[in-house]
Amino acid sequence: MDDGSRYLLSFDTFRLPHHLTDVLVVGTGVAGYSAALAAADLGTRVLVVSKGELDASNTGWAQGGVAAVTNGKREAFEAHVHDTLDVGQGLCDPAVVRDVVTHAPERIADLIRRGARFDGEPGSPALALEGGHSEPRVLHARGDATGAEIRDTLRRAAQGSPNVDLWPRTFLVDLLTDEDGRCRGALLLTPQGLRSVWAGAVVLATGGYAQLFRESTNVPGATGDGIAAALRAGAVLRDLEFVQFHPTTLYLAGVPRFLISEAVRGEGAHLVDDKGRRFAFETDPRGELAPRDVVSRAILHQLARDDVQGVFLDMTHLGARMATRFPGIAAACRAHGLDPTRDRIPVRPAAHYTIGGVVVDREGASSVPGLYAAGEVSASGLHGANRLASNSLLEGLVLGHRAGLASSAAAAASPPRAMHLRGAGTGAGPEGHLDEEDLRASLRALLWRMVGIERHGGALTGAVAAVGGWEGFARRVGPDTVERFVLLDMLAVARRVAEAALRREESRGTHFRRDFPVRDDALWRCHLLHRSGQAVWKAPAAALPPAVPAAGARP
Ligand code: SIN
Repeated sequence: MDDGSRYLLSFDTFRLPHHLTDVLVVGTGVAGYSAALAAADLGTRVLVVSKGELDASNTGWAQGGVAAVTNGKREAFEAHVHDTLDVGQGLCDPAVVRDVVTHAPERIADLIRRGARFDGEPGSPALALEGGHSEPRVLHARGDATGAEIRDTLRRAAQGSPNVDLWPRTFLVDLLTDEDGRCRGALLLTPQGLRSVWAGAVVLATGGYAQLFRESTNVPGATGDGIAAALRAGAVLRDLEFVQFHPTTLYLAGVPRFLISEAVRGEGAHLVDDKGRRFAFETDPRGELAPRDVVSRAILHQLARDDVQGVFLDMTHLGARMATRFPGIAAACRAHGLDPTRDRIPVRPAAHYTIGGVVVDREGASSVPGLYAAGEVSASGLHGANRLASNSLLEGLVLGHRAGLASSAAAAASPPRAMHLRGAGTGAGPEGHLDEEDLRASLRALLWRMVGIERHGGALTGAVAAVGGWEGFARRVGPDTVERFVLLDMLAVARRVAEAALRREESRGTHFRRDFPVRDDALWRCHLLHRSGQAVWKAPAAALPPAVPAAGARP
C-alpha cells in the first residue's frame, strides 16, 4: 500500500515563522465554531483558521434545518433516536446517537442565548418534516437559511471573544507530529506564506469530500483536505464508502447546482416526470419522503428510461406559501427564469454529505494523541450507513462543543511548544507537466460515474486503478500551489473511497452495489477502516440496543 510521503512538502520548522496557541481549530463551520467557543469560554486561547473566507463553509448553505427535540418529552427523544438508528441501517453507534439527541436542547438554547432566531414563536418553534423523520422536529430559521443563521451567530460570538483569533484564507498543508506520533500543531499556508503553528491540541473541522463528485450540493472547498492530512498524520479513518446523495438539486446545464431542500417535499412538493407522472410511490410507500438513497435511485431509474425526458419537483400546488416558507429557494429559481408557483423545477441528485472520516470517540479524540475532529470530517458513529436529514448541524453543535471542551483540557495538560521538525515532501520537483484543471475534472467525472449512486465491482475496480495511477503521477510532479495540495488531497481520499466501495460487497444505506443489491448483516454489519500504509480492514459495528423497533414502528 503506497501512500507516498508523510508530508506534502519539504520543510524545516527552524526556518519558518511560527505561532503558538493553546488550541488550533481548522474550519469555520458549525463544528469548528462550536469547538472554538467551548474552549474559549473556558479561558483557552484558540486560533481558528479557514481555507477560504470565514463564511465559505457548507454550514452557511444548509437549508432544511437542525433536528432537535424541543418539547422535552421522553417519547419524542426516543423517536429521534429510533429514526436516526433506522436510517443508519445497523452502523450507527447507539450510545453516540442517544448522547447527541439528548444534548440537542442545551445546544439549541445556547445558540438562542447567543442571538440565533428560529422561525416560530419563542418557546414554540415552527417544526418541519423531512425524509426519514417520523414526526416534525426540524427547526429552521429565515425560512430556508438555517445554516446561515447558525453560522452568523457563531461567527459573531467568535469575533467577539477575546480568546479567539480568526485567520481566513489559511490552508492546512499538514499536521505536525512529533517522534511519538503526537500532534503538535500544523503547517499552514497563510496569505503571508508558510507558517508552523504549535498547539496543545488541534481540532479538525474541515468538512467532508462531496466535491469529489461532479454533481455536488457543496461549497467548492468540500474537498476532503482535513481527512487527507489526518491520514498522512497516522489517524484511522472509517466509513468512507458512505456518501449521501441528495435527490433534489436544481439542474440546469451551465448553472451552478443549487440544493432544493428536502423540507420542500416535506411541505408537500411532488416528484414528477416530464409528463407529470408522480413516481416515488412506485419504489417506496413513503414516496417523496423515503430516505434519500431510495429517492435518489428512483430518480436515477426514471432518468434512464427512454420515455422519460426529465425529472421535476412540482410545487405549483403550494402556491404563494412556497415563497414565504422558502424565500432563498424561490429566489434562486426565479434568478434562472423559473417561477415555482407556475413552473416545475428540473432536478437531479448530487453528492451532498459524506459520512466517512476521522474516527473519533465521544470527546472528539482521534487515534492520534492531541488531534480531535468534529462535524463532517469525523466518523463519530452518529450517522451509520446513512444520515438522517438535519442531523448534521446537530452533530456539529453537540460534538463540536464536546471536542472544544476536551481539546481545551488536553492543551492545559500539554501546553504548546515550538519544536524542531523536518519533513521531506511528496514530489521530485517541478518536472513533468500536470494539467490540474483537467485532472480535477476527470477525477470528479470518474467518481460520479463509477463510484456514484449505483456502484458495481467492475467499475469500482477500474476506478481504484485509475485514481491510483493519477495519484502516483501527481505526487511525482509534486505540489507547489494550494490548488495542487488540494488535488493531491482529493486523489488520496478518492482512492480510499473507491477502495472501500469495492470492498463492501453488499448494499446498505447510501452504498448501493448493483452486483450485491442486498444488505448482508452476517458478513457486513461492520465498518471498513483505513490507515496510511495499510490495506483497508474490517472492524465490528457497535452493539445494537436490545430491541430496535422495526422500521415504521413507533418506540
Ligand atoms: C435539505 O435541506 O434538504 C438538507 C438538509 C440536510 O442535509 O440535513
